[in-house]
Amino acid sequence: MQSFHGSFVHTPRRGELELLRDTRIDVTDGCIARISADPPDASCVTTGDNEYFLPGFVDLHVHAPQWPQLGNALHLPLEDWLWQCTFPLEARCADLDYAHAIYTALVRTLLRHGTTTAVYFGSIHVAATCELARLCAEHGQRAVVGKVVMDDPAANPGYYRDESTDAGLAGTQQLIEYVRDLPGELVLPAITPRFIPSCSDSMLQELGKLTAATGAHVQTHCSESDWEHSYVLDRLGKTDTTALDDFGLLTRRSVLAHANFIGADDMRRIGNRGAGIAHCPLSNAYFADSVFPLRAALDKSMHVGLGTDISGGPSASLFDNARHAISSSRILEHGADPSLPAARRGRKHSRIDFRDALWLASAGGAEVLDLPVGRFVEGNRFDAMLIDTARIDGGIYPDTGDDLDALVQKTIYGATPNNIRQVWTDAVARLH
Ligand code: GUN
Ligand code: FE
Repeated sequence: MQSFHGSFVHTPRRGELELLRDTRIDVTDGCIARISADPPDASCVTTGDNEYFLPGFVDLHVHAPQWPQLGNALHLPLEDWLWQCTFPLEARCADLDYAHAIYTALVRTLLRHGTTTAVYFGSIHVAATCELARLCAEHGQRAVVGKVVMDDPAANPGYYRDESTDAGLAGTQQLIEYVRDLPGELVLPAITPRFIPSCSDSMLQELGKLTAATGAHVQTHCSESDWEHSYVLDRLGKTDTTALDDFGLLTRRSVLAHANFIGADDMRRIGNRGAGIAHCPLSNAYFADSVFPLRAALDKSMHVGLGTDISGGPSASLFDNARHAISSSRILEHGADPSLPAARRGRKHSRIDFRDALWLASAGGAEVLDLPVGRFVEGNRFDAMLIDTARIDGGIYPDTGDDLDALVQKTIYGATPNNIRQVWTDAVARLH
């Protein structure tokens, strides 16, 4: 048994901050067995002054093979960026040694940033994607990992696509079996059609059948940009959401990246299926042509969390994305074009605040994945980070009069990796 004692902050429900003070959490086999007011003993990990535990963060959308491109190549529109920069980069993961090196660095960096759960797109390569899953298990990061599927010869470069529909399907099955055979329970497989434009109809149909047969998570891009959204409308005569549903790819365990251009019908359909959205606010500033209507989705009780979209977004930090989720919701509310009168500039009632942002980064992401993490409640896994607000080399200055709201708000807006002393998954410390 491991025990933790001191201050714990989390969002038991969206919009609600809870501080558990002088609290003891006892963990058995990684699972929170008891939350009590019992005193600490010598074996407890305890919080000092200016410290508290937060739930580990859940990054719902990461492209692992794009890690070497972080912060680069953000000048192009989505389609050009894919063809000129991103497909050639991902193709390098045919080299397993190269993939091992960049994936090791990525997993360790994300843990250092407080990301205890990550949802990864690998590349089209089965061996490299299996290695990514193995590295997550080795380094103790909870993860959902998928081999990217892109089989349509008309829509993908010859040097970077599945050899055939059958080969892409077989590779997906191989990845699922490999991940399910890994030791431990931290890593799960995902069925991963890159997006509708990269896949043939028959591939999408077969992946839908595989989803039903395996019960695996699904991840894909959905209605991300004007180009992507209208490409699918032109090809299939329906929205991404309807098409994914018709292919059997919209389930309780589906993660739709972006979803900027979903309409009211799409929202209803996604909500009815219990599927989730990975809101990627930094990436959206570069590639999405719009701001995701986050407030509207939350008010409809849709499942939503946050994604870095490495390398569509230029930061590995979910704190950065939580901040930007707040900022971009404010920009949507106020509008952006100063030549318009204030009353016509924005979309009223669009803002979220730091409490919503914390919820999205933790409990919201966990809800999307249907995983028992993101909140300190009995029965959940103990995935956490220890925040030290007083680090002189961090990004926070705790004032003596700060109440809980002030301290947490400052953390969301200011925390850097230096403010994270340790992270745990299943109550095992993962930073060394
Ligand atoms: N759509 C298809 N592939 C990608 C990708 O790698 N990143 C983003 N942001 N959108 C995509
Ligand atoms: Fe993406």
